[in-house]
Amino acid sequence: RPRVLSGIQPTAGSFHLGNYLGAVRQWVALQETHDAFYMVVDLHAITVPQDPAELRANTRLAVAQLLAAGVDPERCTLFVQSHVPEHAQLGWVMNCLTGFGEASRMTQFKDKAAKQGADRATVGLFTYPILQVADILLYQAHQVPVGEDQRQHIELTRDLAERFNGRFGETFTVPAPYILKETAKIYDLQDPTAKMSKSAATPKGLINLLDEPKATAKKVKSAVTDTDTVIRFDPEGKPGVSNLLTIMSTLTGTPVDRLVEGYEGKMYGALKTDLAEIVVDFVTPFRTRTQEYLDDPETLDSILAKGAEKARAVAAETLAQTYDRVGFLPAK
Ligand code: TYM
Repeated sequence: RPRVLSGIQPTAGSFHLGNYLGAVRQWVALQETHDAFYMVVDLHAITVPQDPAELRANTRLAVAQLLAAGVDPERCTLFVQSHVPEHAQLGWVMNCLTGFGEASRMTQFKDKAAKQGADRATVGLFTYPILQVADILLYQAHQVPVGEDQRQHIELTRDLAERFNGRFGETFTVPAPYILKETAKIYDLQDPTAKMSKSAATPKGLINLLDEPKATAKKVKSAVTDTDTVIRFDPEGKPGVSNLLTIMSTLTGTPVDRLVEGYEGKMYGALKTDLAEIVVDFVTPFRTRTQEYLDDPETLDSILAKGAEKARAVAAETLAQTYDRVGFLPAK
């Protein structure tokens, strides 16, 4: 079985619809066909200021949401990044292989650093993508299911894997991004040219999966569309309507063309009302299931303990080989 690996940050609390449609949904599908490793990346979460109690709670919450979404610890390896110390260890080796200028070109870093102010951005934020490289290479992943915003980090991973292999001998699998075209970028409902994200100017365009379903329905119904009234899939000309069609198509499994046919002669209101119902039908059981997992911390902890053990077995082997290749004296 080919191997996949991916991660999600626990920072924000609730996952949003972009996380689910862009990534987590694919994780659930790929665990059927691939040897899958999925993790909550708490090491990455401390690259921006965090509250310790909140981080701990949000890490549990992230795991509960993954389980609620259908990530199945019987079918994949589900773990928390800090439980596997090899991530930080391989991260160091990768830091030493990355050019300063190369790291400086990472656009997510530039965006986040600009938002925080250059003096407040940490070195951890700067090396964030390099830790992500280590995450992926440790497991010899063939594919990495993510949204479009992660593409540059996967490119860096490929570059560093090739560089290491070239310098020290064949060690790492060079991974490919697994990005589905349709859902690579889910857009903000109020600003359909910007990606849906926690850091949006207003929360009105952000669908948090754990919000009150009523509030969510309201957000969908007040999504920005455009001035003409025709329901058509045209991401350039009609980004708002096209985003709604994408979300509807993915949640229902109905191709966009068929949806468009069905809405011929109808107004945007009809589309939004229907979509609000579809989204509510999705988030309502999702919230309940998440709560059920949270209410059973023992099960959750035992899932994570097993996951960490499985992950470490793979990670330790890759790290040992890497240490050997770079010339570290083995500890006897
Ligand atoms: P994070 O936690 O920001 O996001 C988790 C996943 O959600 C995707 N995503 C989106 N997809 C489509 N449309 C959107 N609007 C949208 N917003 C977010 C992201 O692309 C991501 O796949 N650096 C990563 C976490 C990470 C990782 C890894 C991923 C750490 N190590 C190793 C893969 C492999 C991140 O911050 O994702």
